[in-house]
Amino acid sequence: MKKRIGIFYGPTGGATEKVAKLIASELQGAAEVYPVKDATPSMINNYEIIIFGCSTIGSETWNGEASRSDWDIFRPELRKIQVQGKLFAFFGTGNSVSYPRNFVDGMGILAKELMAQGAKIVGQWPTDGYSFTDSEALIDGKFVGLAIDEDFEAEKTATRVKQWVELLRKSI
Ligand SMILES: Cc1cc2nc3c(=O)[nH]c(=O)nc-3n(C[C@H](O)[C@H](O)[C@H](O)COP(=O)(O)O)c2cc1C
Repeated sequence: MKKRIGIFYGPTGGATEKVAKLIASELQGAAEVYPVKDATPSMINNYEIIIFGCSTIGSETWNGEASRSDWDIFRPELRKIQVQGKLFAFFGTGNSVSYPRNFVDGMGILAKELMAQGAKIVGQWPTDGYSFTDSEALIDGKFVGLAIDEDFEAEKTATRVKQWVELLRKSI
């Protein structure tokens, strides 16, 4: 089976990587997964369906290992991505309890950059079952992609991923 779906995520080693791999597993071999720190625009341009995953200020910042996140570093490359004829989907990891006003903001910021380039987005996700106050990822009353809280709602992750991938399948 030709792999049409590319999953690009960052940071590595934490919740975002876990969710990237869960999504790939639900897609049953149809997707290839890469850390965005190892990606180039031409790698991304190879895929027809592109899933981008990010945290909102992740463990790298917390550990002081890097002053800028993997996505911050990749951001100048985004404009080299061909958006015509492609479908984009997003997932974001965050913490709805400690950061209720900024829950999964990073996913929204990333998605809006792609939208500004004319990207067609699939996989918008209802806010039912989440508890938060505000988010940059809210567009027309829905999350622009899958929101995951591994800090406080880890037990919901597997079901959320499964249901989101089912939704995605209907749009791709
Ligand atoms: C310093 C710091 C700031 C954070 N800020 C936010 C935030 O503004 N919004 C949010 O939803 N989550 C925030 N989080 C939570 C992370 O996004 C969450 O723990 C995520 O799962 C980390 O992903 P990772 O394990 O892949 O790094 C923050 C975490 C840290 C350590």
